[in-house]
Amino acid sequence: MPSDLDALDDARRYTLELVHHLDARRLETAIVPFLSPMAWDLGHIAAFEDLWIAHRLGGLPLLREEHAALYDAFETPREVRAGLDFLRGEELVEYMAAVRARSAQVDPGDGTLFELVVRHEYQHAETMLQAMALAGLRPAGFADGGPAGGDGLELVEVEAGAALIGAPAEGFAYDNERPRHAVELPAFAIARSPVSNATWLSFAEGGGYERREWWSAEGWAWKLDQDIECPENASNGDPGAAVVHVSHHEAEAFARSVDARLPTELEWEKAALHGRLAGIGSAWEWTQSHFSGYPGFRAHPYREYSEVFFGDGYRVLRGASPATHPRVASLHFRNWDLPERRQLFAGVRIAR
Ligand code: AVJ
Ligand code: FE
Repeated sequence: MPSDLDALDDARRYTLELVHHLDARRLETAIVPFLSPMAWDLGHIAAFEDLWIAHRLGGLPLLREEHAALYDAFETPREVRAGLDFLRGEELVEYMAAVRARSAQVDPGDGTLFELVVRHEYQHAETMLQAMALAGLRPAGFADGGPAGGDGLELVEVEAGAALIGAPAEGFAYDNERPRHAVELPAFAIARSPVSNATWLSFAEGGGYERREWWSAEGWAWKLDQDIECPENASNGDPGAAVVHVSHHEAEAFARSVDARLPTELEWEKAALHGRLAGIGSAWEWTQSHFSGYPGFRAHPYREYSEVFFGDGYRVLRGASPATHPRVASLHFRNWDLPERRQLFAGVRIAR
């Protein structure tokens, strides 16, 4: 029991440290329409905790019933959050603390829902770091991409055969990582490391953003419409760091420019489990896979975490980034976003 509450308190210290350098106005303003004002994230973190710990686990009524819709990610999509009357300043700090005081009274049982809440808070820390990076307000010393460990063009062979994909039945995992199942894969080659800034820069300088034949139709239309150019970090970041802030469209174009492709998420997981991949954790890595349930998928404990995002729209990312807290990172973890998004600390690892 004490260790679960400790984990919650660790997460809270981490969150508050992360936003320490930001003033109230910064926290309350949306930086881009598709990210929440950070003050909304903070209130949502607390509302999520109250829902799952005091209410669902402890059987208590919600602390503030009127917050349920405001802080429900599904009922209140990101684009509308900036215009809402979310909690600010002292009121926000008091709400977060009051929720935590209630959690301290609840028996964690097997700890699963406490862990869900802890990881939720860390996931929102990464979202807030995305907002900070866009606004040029990174915490001191934070770099968007970690060491790539290579140029990203050296491939290793992975032999044909079965791989066990997904999280084991015991312990905490998200519903979308289960059930664990065997998958037969043909032989493939995958890069030992993610693509570095230096490699990305030579792609851009070699006409990466002009050569129509390297892009998908959808990617090219998006690039023209949005006037997309090489991300700044490719030229002003550490040349040996993993490139980040590239979209799935750009990742795909890069792969095609070197006669390669993006790996499937199953290939990624097999290669990672076999210890073949360096640079994991330096950048999220786009895969070619669409986000969907594994065979036998069961939504648990809440449908809105994964299932509502299944389908053709979202692409899976694997690995982790420098903004990912280690408690959330795992070789089974499946992240997802729309193919045009660039705020993620996401780069590319090629396959063939
Ligand atoms: C797993 C990062 C895609 O931010 O939409 C946070 C995590 N889910 N609160 C997201 C999440 C609910 C999720 N990602
Ligand atoms: Fe959330």
